[in-house]
Amino acid sequence: MHITDYSEYQIAYQKSLEEPDLFWAEIAEHFHWRKKWNKVLEWNFEEPNVKWFQGAKLNITENCIDRHLEKNGNKIALIWEPNDPSEAHKTYTFIELHKEVCRFANVLKNMGVDKGDRVCIYMPMIPELAFAVLACARIGAVHSVVFAGFSANSLADRINDAGAKLVICSDAMSRGSKQLPLKNVVDEALKTCSTVEKVLVVNRLNWPIHLRNGLDFVYDMEAEKVDENCPATEMDAEDMLFMLYTSGSTGKPKGVVHSTAGYMVYTAYSFLNVFQYDIDDIHFCTADIGWITGHSYILYGPLLNGATTVMFEGVPNHPDPSRFWQLIEKHSVTHFYTAPTAIRSLMQSGTDHLTPFAMHSLKVLGSVGEPINEEAWHWYHVNVGKERCQIVDTWFQTETGGILISALAGISPTRPAHAGQPLPGIHAVLLDSKGNEIEGNDKEGYLCIKFPWPSMLRTTYGDHERCRQTYFSAYKGYYFTGDGARRDENGLYRIIGRVDDVINVSGHRFGTAEIENAVNQNKNVVESAVVGYPHELKGQGIYVYVICQNMPEAAEQNWLRSSIIQTVAEEIGAIAKPDKIQFVSGLPKTRSGKIMRRILRKVAEGDVSNLGDTSTLLDPLVVEEIIIGAVL
Ligand code: PRX
Repeated sequence: MHITDYSEYQIAYQKSLEEPDLFWAEIAEHFHWRKKWNKVLEWNFEEPNVKWFQGAKLNITENCIDRHLEKNGNKIALIWEPNDPSEAHKTYTFIELHKEVCRFANVLKNMGVDKGDRVCIYMPMIPELAFAVLACARIGAVHSVVFAGFSANSLADRINDAGAKLVICSDAMSRGSKQLPLKNVVDEALKTCSTVEKVLVVNRLNWPIHLRNGLDFVYDMEAEKVDENCPATEMDAEDMLFMLYTSGSTGKPKGVVHSTAGYMVYTAYSFLNVFQYDIDDIHFCTADIGWITGHSYILYGPLLNGATTVMFEGVPNHPDPSRFWQLIEKHSVTHFYTAPTAIRSLMQSGTDHLTPFAMHSLKVLGSVGEPINEEAWHWYHVNVGKERCQIVDTWFQTETGGILISALAGISPTRPAHAGQPLPGIHAVLLDSKGNEIEGNDKEGYLCIKFPWPSMLRTTYGDHERCRQTYFSAYKGYYFTGDGARRDENGLYRIIGRVDDVINVSGHRFGTAEIENAVNQNKNVVESAVVGYPHELKGQGIYVYVICQNMPEAAEQNWLRSSIIQTVAEEIGAIAKPDKIQFVSGLPKTRSGKIMRRILRKVAEGDVSNLGDTSTLLDPLVVEEIIIGAVL
């Protein structure tokens, strides 16, 4: 399962294309199964219907934890670092993690959670978040982690869509210099949620919270009622492990569904090979467990490999920009995995904050979530990696579960701003707009995957047709990623960015329609159109064109802008706040009423030299007005 040189990679890749069943069966042998599979793979991309390791029985937590107890029980599984450096960090060995997860699982059982029930987890990055996720998996409940930066409205939408029975949250959270009342957000959300029977509150900051009889339970009190033994529930290979909401080109985020065995096999395999994990390595992924990167490469991938994983509650620049480097030194981190936005924001603080830190332990640096520009890549390589660490630029998606395109650290060729080659098992292709495969190198097209891989999404929760339409209908017989990519002269892939109506702000995905829906909730707004534009720090920024009843006077515009930003923060969360808002009297629409986003994107980018054909517009004059009023 562990690839150790480039020729092994090439052999594995070839084998995965020619004999995929055999290839994956051999990898799957490295796990603990209560019963082995009858069939490795059954699939068609028309419905779609994808099933891996059918007939197998397992529990993923036995693979993440129990399996390591005998030989490595006293090894540290989890290192937790708090937001505030004056607070002590915590560590959990595999034995301790086992106890915590079992205790948490017993609390869930006591509260009436059964196999198949959906549990919504809305928590800061504290150890109990990891315990809660694994506890769900232990008893076969489906976890749906909602990033704690989402607003009450967004949380309520996700709880309702999932039909969650239980919500797990904390009293409050601290992030950087801010403290936020999470339990209050849950209380607000639950006003419109009818499926939730109980709320479990973990104490983090001793904030006063309102406890309702029979509805709200405090974790510490519930934990006293149970013991630390909790046999793992036997799961079928294709039983749902978790769902995770993500944005698409429509207004409503969708619950991406992952199943048990395939997700386990692929996240473990990709973690081991991309990062070239070695026993005793310390892996620090700075993502939040509210996103797929946190699921796959803070929790499941590392733990499945028996690795030590670092979980950090805070932010890169609190209390100052040296925080990451301090943590790397403090814990002798070998693998550091972060997002280009974090790198760019640290770059802005110069390099003095790095000078005192040699970071000798570092071996591999990772990047994920958005294209990394060359300048950031070099800064990362020189200043953090001291020119001696491998950089892996890992491309994947919530839907793919694990990394699909990346160099294997130190093994395969790398090039700045290029993700590299597909992992074994990943049949990546570029298609042209007619759906023809583009052969050869030095070519650009739509990135699609031709063959199933174990950790691919199985459906979108409650709406299989939506899954089919979104991912499998654009190009028949292919999974469509939504990304455009270029294959360079050596066959290395560079991800260019989304080709659909999705924008990627600091590695967070939003649908333009989703933000428009939010903006339109503001009572002063008649209509809006949202586009992304290049943003120095965030990768992409959010640019909103707004039509009001009457064109607002200059004096009114500032408070109107603040009011719209506030509305978006309430509807989605502060992470989706627009960067620029332009008031317009009309939008460039075709006679059939379709907004010509191409024009809006060009104006937002500040490049109006070639707007293309505008003759089909209902009112071409509106374009002039938009250009003149552009917020640059
Ligand atoms: O556009 C790609 C971009 O992030 C999208 C997936 O977003 P999400 O599901 O939120 O998952 C993010 C973390 C995996 C992709 O469609 N993306 C992700 N990784 C990269 C990337 N773009 C360029 N380079 C990457 N390494």
